[in-house]
Amino acid sequence: IPRAAVIGNPISHSLSPKLHGYWLKRYGLEGSYEALQVAEDALEATLHSLPAKGFVGANVTIPHKVSVLQFADQVTDRATLIGAANTLIFKADGRIFADNTDGYGFISNLRQGAPSWDPKAGPAAIFGAGGAARAVVVALIDAGVPEIVISNRTRPKAEALRDDFGARIRVVDWVQADTMVEDAMTVVNTTSLGMKGASDFKVSLDGLRKETVVTDIVYNPLKTPFLEAAEKRGCTTVDGLGMLLHQGVPGFERWFGHRPEVDEETRQAVL
Ligand code: ATR
Repeated sequence: IPRAAVIGNPISHSLSPKLHGYWLKRYGLEGSYEALQVAEDALEATLHSLPAKGFVGANVTIPHKVSVLQFADQVTDRATLIGAANTLIFKADGRIFADNTDGYGFISNLRQGAPSWDPKAGPAAIFGAGGAARAVVVALIDAGVPEIVISNRTRPKAEALRDDFGARIRVVDWVQADTMVEDAMTVVNTTSLGMKGASDFKVSLDGLRKETVVTDIVYNPLKTPFLEAAEKRGCTTVDGLGMLLHQGVPGFERWFGHRPEVDEETRQAVL
């Protein structure tokens, strides 16, 4: 029976065991998916011990998404570009293959939630420049967005993104972040603002056009103040839960041999 797991520290909050467990059951597949809490100093040894125990792969979450790259034998171009991996495949000979499906999850969620979304319609505006923003930037560039405007409280992190991903990126100061949304056709919150227990998102979205598609990577609560404000402006909004569900699709397919669906039933299964 093929085994897979999500590896993080802490791990109890992860929705991945519910998601993959649900898919295994739904498609009647043999397999298991567990949560493994692994400390940073035990990561390498744990990874190398898993294939012999029947593991065919794993998801990787905070805080291991960056450090896992150094223990992989093969890293995909996009994981290298993003600088982090979230999906591992263990080859029969024990070698570790690392990929990043966060950008795939982000775009698939956007396309599913806003079927008429056209990446080429105009610039994208991104709030935040952390790990999640890197995956979003790579995905938007791949999708053909003509320009990406980024604002982050800590400006040098946004500038680092521009240095890494090039000419299509423009950095706007955090105090002027509200001006970014006026021309944007795609707007993304990648900050933790609006998350349950965190501060609220305070940048004004008054300049948003109703044609703009607005999405948040925060999914607790599902409807963040950011999405609420966008909805009030008449925009199509896409919540963050779908990104998490879609990023799990490529791994599940590789490990268990069936491409799973992300639909309302899937959402209900993890909530
Ligand atoms: P992730 O991997 O989810 O992107 P992260 O790398 O910790 O997590 O990034 C969190 C993002 O939320 C960052 O852009 C962070 O801004 P800083 O780079 O200035 O820290 C942003 N963020 C968190 N709390 C914030 C706050 N109170 N105001 C503005 N931005 C905030």
